[in-house]
Amino acid sequence: MQLEHNKRIQHLNTMAIDVQAENFLSVTSIDQLQQFLQQEHLPQPIHIIGGGSNIVYTQDIPGTLLSIDIKGITESHVSENEVHITAAAGEVWHDLVDYALDRNYGGIENLTLIPGKTGAAPMQNIGAYGVEIKDVLTSVTTVHRATGQQHLFTNEQCQLGYRESIFKNQLRDQHIITSITIALTKHTHTLHLEYGAIHQELQKHHIHNPGISDVSHAVATIRRSKLPDPKHIPNCGSFFKNPIIPLTQLQPILEKYADAPHFPIGAQYAKIPAAWLIQQAGWKGFRNQTVGVHDLQPLVLINHNHGTGVHIYQLSEDIKNSVAHQFGIILEREVNII
Ligand code: EPU
Repeated sequence: MQLEHNKRIQHLNTMAIDVQAENFLSVTSIDQLQQFLQQEHLPQPIHIIGGGSNIVYTQDIPGTLLSIDIKGITESHVSENEVHITAAAGEVWHDLVDYALDRNYGGIENLTLIPGKTGAAPMQNIGAYGVEIKDVLTSVTTVHRATGQQHLFTNEQCQLGYRESIFKNQLRDQHIITSITIALTKHTHTLHLEYGAIHQELQKHHIHNPGISDVSHAVATIRRSKLPDPKHIPNCGSFFKNPIIPLTQLQPILEKYADAPHFPIGAQYAKIPAAWLIQQAGWKGFRNQTVGVHDLQPLVLINHNHGTGVHIYQLSEDIKNSVAHQFGIILEREVNII
C-alpha cells in the first residue's frame, strides 16, 4: 500500500481546483481499505474522494485523501421481471447506466450522464428528470471508518431525501460507501416521462411509444443542451439546492413576480427553482477574471480561468447574499466545501 505524497489533484475534481493532498491513496479493494484504516499511525484527517464532482477544495488537503476505486458489477435475478445489480463504489455512475441499458434493464435511464462515481450516488440521493436513486436502491454497503467493519444499510436506513442521506447528516464522516445494490426491471419497465422537457424531446423526434434507450437519449440531449461538460468547462453541476419554502413566503413573491415558477410540495410548501432566483438576482452569465455563473443554467458555477476554491466559494456567498436580500430566501449549497 503505497501512499503518494503532495499529490496534485486538479484532474481528480471536476471544478479543476489545483490543490494538493498531503497523502493520497487509491483504494481498489475492501481488504485494502480495511488494512489502511487499521494501521496504527494513520495520517489524519481522512478525506474521501469519489468522482470529485460535488466538491470544492478551498485549501490543500492535510492528512490523507482516499480515492475509492473499487470496481465490479454483479447481478442476481430475483424474479421474472426483477434483477438486482450490485455495483462497487468506484464504478463510474454513467457506466452503470450504460450497463443497464445494454441489457435492457430499466429504472435508471433518467439518471443518464450524471457525473461522479456510484459510491457517491446514495450520499446525496442523486436525482434528475423525475427519478432519484432512492426509487431503485435496495441497499448500500459500507466500511465503518473507526472499526474497519462492514455494514449494510437498507434503503430506509439510508434516510434518503432531496439531495440528503444519513451519510451527509447523522453519520457524516463515519462510513465509507463500498457498494450499492439497485433493483431494475427486465421486461416490463415503468417509464418516468412526466418531466416536461423529456416529453417535448420525445415529441420532437416523433417517438410515441418510447423505450428506456429513447428516454436515456432524450435526457442526454437535454443535459448536453444546458449543462456544461466539466471536461471543457470545469463545474460541479447544480451548486445550490432548489429551496422549499412555505406558501406564506411564496405569496408575496408571486404578487411581485406573477410568473415565478414553483412546484407544490404537500399542502403547505413549494419548491422554487434556485436557477430562477439566481437569474432574477442578475447573476446569469456573470463572469469575473476566474469564475462565473453558467449562461444557460445559472444554478451551475463555473471555473473558467484557473479559479481557486476560495474564488468559487466567494462567488457562491455573493450569490447567496443577493438572493437573500431580494427574496428573503437562504440558498443552501448542494456542493461540499472543504
Ligand atoms: N430556470 C430559470 N432560468 C434558467 C434555467 C432554469 O429560471 O436559466 C428555472 C426554470 O423555471 C426551470 C427551472 O429553473 O423550469 C428548473 O430548471 P431545470 O429543469 O434545469 O432543473 P433545476 O431545478 O435547475 C434540477 C437538479 C439537477 C437536475 C435537473 C433535472 C437540483 C439542485 N438540481 O435542476 O441536478 O439535473 O433538476 O431534473 O435539484 C445536480 O444535482 O447537479 C443537477 C444537475
